[in-house]
Amino acid sequence: MRVGVLTGGGDCAGLNAVIRAVTKSLIHHGPAEVWGIEDGFEGLIEGRGRPLGWEAVSGIIATGGTILGTSNRGSPLASEQAMSRALEHARTWRLDAIVAIGGDGTMSIAHAMAAHGLAFVGVPKTIDNDIEGCERSFGFDTAVSIVTEALERVQTTGQSHGRVMIVETMGRYAGWIALEAGVAAAADVILLPEIEYDVEAVAEVCRQREGRQRYTVICVAEGARARGAGYTVERRVAGADDPIRLGGIAHVLREQLQPLLDSEVRSTVLGHVQRGGSPTPFDRVLATQYGHHAAQLVLQGAFGRMVTLQQGRIASIPIEDVAGRNRRVPADHPLLVCAREIGVCLGEGAGP
Ligand code: F6P
Repeated sequence: MRVGVLTGGGDCAGLNAVIRAVTKSLIHHGPAEVWGIEDGFEGLIEGRGRPLGWEAVSGIIATGGTILGTSNRGSPLASEQAMSRALEHARTWRLDAIVAIGGDGTMSIAHAMAAHGLAFVGVPKTIDNDIEGCERSFGFDTAVSIVTEALERVQTTGQSHGRVMIVETMGRYAGWIALEAGVAAAADVILLPEIEYDVEAVAEVCRQREGRQRYTVICVAEGARARGAGYTVERRVAGADDPIRLGGIAHVLREQLQPLLDSEVRSTVLGHVQRGGSPTPFDRVLATQYGHHAAQLVLQGAFGRMVTLQQGRIASIPIEDVAGRNRRVPADHPLLVCAREIGVCLGEGAGP
């Protein structure tokens, strides 16, 4: 049996731990051979791949990025020609199945390709933690710890200068990173895409703190937006259908707040530092368990399924239940309620 492995979409910490666990588990159970596909589906279309042995995946659990490379470009769904080239390479390489490690875009492609007879097992990947049916994606814990550290660092400089400090996190349409890191670092204000913020409500928190604590720390998710805002910061996220306004909301918020405050306001966009570097121990363990479980699904012939974490247990669900869907922070999420009730401002204003 020969099994392909690919990493698709944006990278995140923990990808190498999955590749390692998939490869070692399959080799352990022999006679499986593992074939690494380079740069995600782009490599499948272009025929770029290599054998992956025990040695090739040793010593990589703590390494950031992906040894296989990844890409947001090159979808077999882009054209009939791309699809037939991808299928042709899978045949040439004699792949019996592919373990696709990626987000909702990767799962959508895997699901569509399965209709052409290619067997897939999915492994969820994203720092955003927004994959439907999956309580925790690896990479998220690492991102939260990087953001937490950044928030704590801006807190001491903000305190020294008596400033309002804004830190922008990634997360796309979901506020999971901002919420968890904001709570972990005791941010005074946490702004999420799920709750449109009221500029005056945020300014009022800053004004109250100007008198007492001198500083305010605001954690804002890139997808957050002001109620009724007309700002124009825009960045198209690869794979997203609509051009959500992302990347730069921290600067917009700074412009909105500065005229309303005596304190100086400073803004920081963390960007890709949240995705790079070594995974936390939690992410290494989760990614290893996901990779091991994916190999088991392959060996059982349980194709068309994505590994997941549900009620704290490693499980699997149909890929089609995941493809193209995102999980956002629900209004009644316990951590949201907790944050509000311990005095964190979530940008909620008095009225609509
Ligand atoms: O989905 C993961 C993510 O890191 C988002 O949080 C972010 O909006 C996006 O990818 C950035 O994508 P790119 O690497 O294409 O700029």
